[in-house]
Amino acid sequence: MKTVTLNTLREFKRSGETFSCLTAYDASFARAASEAGIDVLLVGDSLGMVLQGHGSTLPVTLDDVCYHTRAAAAGKGTSLLMADLPFMSNATVERTLEDSAALMRAGAEIIKVEGEAWMADGVRELTRRGVPVCAHLGLTPQTVHQLGGYRVQGRDAAHAERIIADARTLVDAGASIILLECVPASLGRAVTEALDVPVIGIGAGPGTDGQILVMHDILGVSAGRAPRFVKNYMQDADNVQDAFARYHAEVKQGAFPTDDHCF
Ligand code: KIV
Repeated sequence: MKTVTLNTLREFKRSGETFSCLTAYDASFARAASEAGIDVLLVGDSLGMVLQGHGSTLPVTLDDVCYHTRAAAAGKGTSLLMADLPFMSNATVERTLEDSAALMRAGAEIIKVEGEAWMADGVRELTRRGVPVCAHLGLTPQTVHQLGGYRVQGRDAAHAERIIADARTLVDAGASIILLECVPASLGRAVTEALDVPVIGIGAGPGTDGQILVMHDILGVSAGRAPRFVKNYMQDADNVQDAFARYHAEVKQGAFPTDDHCF
């Protein structure tokens, strides 16, 4: 298998081939996912919920993400490795640069940041220094308390327009990828069509360039009720790697997500 780079994702967008992304937090699962063909691995701050058992991603520290990035990097194989900038690492541009540097030293190849248009300065400075950025919009879990819960974003026209405008601003600042979480499928498609850069969706419908899910969700081992956009791939699989391969195949074939997983 060829090593996946940012250029591979750009080529996928150009050719219309959807790409698969999955969270991974250690070497063993990163290796299994990479061998199953998953294009992009994310060391997400969802680790605070699925590994540490918290109710949100807010308690996750930079050291936590660095630790898991080092572990995932050791098993990432040919997949592209992205890591999350944790809560408040974007408090200032200086901190954004320093904390991103720590994640890059730990083995990240792309930094994912939450934040709307105001995040443009941080994105610009990272990009100028050669750090590729994925900007996370829509439902941003680090602002869950301000949002009043894990709710679908961009349902009304004004909010949808603001998300599209924020995405454009962040791409103009240098973002190489946009990630959209929990938005109506129509908005996922509109953002994807409006931008030249790859757009990854989670609960954003089938119209995005890539799809991402949390590993524990697709293995059916997350606590609580699964969100609507999740599919349990373990149900029909022989083993974990088979579940990853089934997810990858369905993303590539356009068989996931279906209307049942969309807003
Ligand atoms: O932290 C994470 O795993 C994420 C995904 C849900 C996209 O941000």
